[in-house]
Amino acid sequence: MKVVFVMFLAMLVSVSSQAVVQKPNIGNFLQCLRDRSDPKNPITKAIFTPQNSTFTSSYVSYTKNKRYSNPNDTNLIAIVEAKHESHVQATVVCAKSNRVQIRIRSGGHDYEGLSYTSSLPFAVLDMNNLRSITIDVSGKKAWVQAGATLGELYTKISEASKTLAFPAGVCPTLGAGGHISGGGYGNLMRKYGISVDHVVDAQLVDVNGKILNRASMGEDLFWAIRGGGGASFGVILSWTINLVEVPETITVFNVNKTLGQGATDVLYKWQLVSSKLPRELFLRAMPQITKGANKTIAVKFIAQFLGSSKKLMEIINKNLPELGLKGEDCYEMSWLNTTTFWADYPVGTSTSVLLKRPSTPPGAFFKSKSDYVKKPIPKEGIEKMWKTMLKFNNHVFMQWNPYGGVMDKIPANATAFPHRKGNLFKIQYFALWIDANATKANLALMKELYDVAEPYVSSNPREAFLNYRDIDVGSNPSGMTNVVEGKIYGSKYFVGNLNRLMNVKAKYDPDNFFRHEQSIPPLRAM
Ligand SMILES: Cc1cc2nc3c(=O)[nH]c(=O)nc-3n(C[C@H](O)[C@H](O)[C@H](O)COP(=O)(O)OP(=O)(O)OC[C@H]3O[C@@H](n4cnc5c(N)ncnc54)[C@H](O)[C@@H]3O)c2cc1C
Ligand SMILES: *[C@@H]1O[C@H](CO)[C@@H](O)[C@H](O)[C@H]1NC(C)=O
Ligand SMILES: *[C@@H]1O[C@H](CO)[C@@H](O)[C@H](O)[C@H]1NC(C)=O
Ligand SMILES: *[C@@H]1O[C@H](CO)[C@@H](O)[C@H](O)[C@H]1NC(C)=O
Ligand SMILES: *[C@@H]1O[C@H](CO)[C@@H](O)[C@H](O)[C@H]1NC(C)=O
Ligand SMILES: *[C@@H]1O[C@H](CO)[C@@H](O)[C@H](O)[C@H]1NC(C)=O
Ligand SMILES: *[C@@H]1O[C@H](CO)[C@@H](O)[C@H](O)[C@H]1NC(C)=O
Ligand SMILES: *[C@@H]1O[C@H](CO)[C@@H](O)[C@H](O)[C@H]1NC(C)=O
Repeated sequence: MKVVFVMFLAMLVSVSSQAVVQKPNIGNFLQCLRDRSDPKNPITKAIFTPQNSTFTSSYVSYTKNKRYSNPNDTNLIAIVEAKHESHVQATVVCAKSNRVQIRIRSGGHDYEGLSYTSSLPFAVLDMNNLRSITIDVSGKKAWVQAGATLGELYTKISEASKTLAFPAGVCPTLGAGGHISGGGYGNLMRKYGISVDHVVDAQLVDVNGKILNRASMGEDLFWAIRGGGGASFGVILSWTINLVEVPETITVFNVNKTLGQGATDVLYKWQLVSSKLPRELFLRAMPQITKGANKTIAVKFIAQFLGSSKKLMEIINKNLPELGLKGEDCYEMSWLNTTTFWADYPVGTSTSVLLKRPSTPPGAFFKSKSDYVKKPIPKEGIEKMWKTMLKFNNHVFMQWNPYGGVMDKIPANATAFPHRKGNLFKIQYFALWIDANATKANLALMKELYDVAEPYVSSNPREAFLNYRDIDVGSNPSGMTNVVEGKIYGSKYFVGNLNRLMNVKAKYDPDNFFRHEQSIPPLRAM
């Protein structure tokens, strides 16, 4: 017992100390990049340093959260906006040999800015230029590079076929690199599962700068990057994904109930039925505070049904008549049009909005947290949540996302994403504000809301969703990975899959080059 403990301590020290003592060599890093440049694909035009006038705009355009979007961040030494795979390889090799930390960025939507901040000198490896997509309709497959956005992917799929789709998130500007490697869920989840359930191959640049695919990386690493987060293991260059079938006509609705209209009762009932509805139906409940003089809670019920509005009306009237759904609430449309609807554009908006890329600094500050719910929350619990939500002075909402369907059938260890059977729904808490002075109050209220929810949600561990990154569930300082701390956030994000993830990490990146505040520790574990 004692020997095991000493060994454990020794490992702990070795993993956590190495990075801190060594100083990065920034000049050599930049020189190394130029030296490795292949004349056919020169890297110069991909490198931004503070001397380039476009440095700041290159930095801020892919920083979604204003809380972390500081263009004057003196720790940022360079941005490599890779235009070719060799630029990715060079960045990894040169950063490693010169002890420069990198942050990998695809869409820049990381909730805690981990793709573009560090308290140590670092370079951003930005993938946004690598955004090709090819669709193979007869094989029902697609190949998508990490820097493509979901909006671009959805558009390409629907240009090729009206009855193919891909199960992924509802925000069109999410990057394929971060989003898919963190799991990737959306409104096709109950029917088809999540993005990683449809990944059949991937290209990745490993810690030695080698490009690997599924066959050459092996099943362990391929398993890990499907839900374990890419940034602990390497740089994802591209994914090969299977597409799924959807009908040409899909029905959506968005109806609203305020507290005065019985929202609490309807939401309580929603908990009992939403995970048991036909898997073609995804019915999200979204409690939020209303704007205006008489602040109250309104729960929006947003649905997507792979079928007609007539059939949807039947299902809702049978299972949740309290919603009072009317025919005119329902809209039938193509799958592509549902993606603009879910992105909160009014029905009738042109799908060209799906191709918009950010070009300006972010407008808002935000904070998000997540929970998994395994038994219905009593009405008193829901009412306690309302009480805290009503204390906010700006936008705050929850998303209650129903589980069930195929999510109950896919084993928790099939991919690194562990949150499967036994969940009724997942909660996302989200606060958004535009006044920098409101940050402190919002962070405190988000903590309060999370505390209020504690008795009603999963425990030991209190599970959290990696894509809804939350620095409060545990974190390490930039540049070092303390194993004890790593196991705290790791067990919440990965539950029973953490040990295998740590083993894969120890095998493929034993010196912990690919690290960040919530990366997986390289520890051989049983
Ligand atoms: C408005 C909004 C809506 C959202 N909606 C959903 C949703 O519906 N469903 C859902 O599942 N999630 C959703 N998310 C969360 C989103 O999936 C995550 O923030 C995801 O990590 C974003 O990926 P990205 O590439 O845009 O972000 P980035 O900030 O670029 O990256 C996120 C993480 O992935 C790493 N990473 C990025 N690219 C690579 C790469 N090529 N190789 C290795 N590692 C990489 C980064 O280093 C970082 O750790 C939403 C987020 C926002 C802001
Ligand atoms: C940044 O400046 C350097 C030095 O002038 C130049 O070589 C490089 O091409 C510039 N980068 C970009 C992206 O324009
Ligand atoms: C960055 O520095 C510039 C110039 O000093 C200043 O105008 C700007 O407000 C600063 N931005 C932030 C976010 O601190
Ligand atoms: C929901 O109801 C609230 C309060 O009546 C209102 O402010 C909001 O605009 C409504 N939203 C929708 C989508 O109908
Ligand atoms: C707000 O509530 C007050 C008091 O109940 C009422 O007089 C007023 O009409 C309400 N305002 C709105 C916009 O509903
Ligand atoms: C999709 O939306 C566009 C833009 O509003 C509209 O012109 C088109 O008719 C819609 N198509 C379907 C099938 O929903
Ligand atoms: C998942 O767990 C089951 C049961 O514990 C085991 O039989 C199976 O081999 C595991 N699968 C993988 C991919 O590890
Ligand atoms: C934020 O606080 C600062 C310092 O107290 C104050 O000068 C500024 O006006 C405030 N900004 C807003 C938008 O309230």
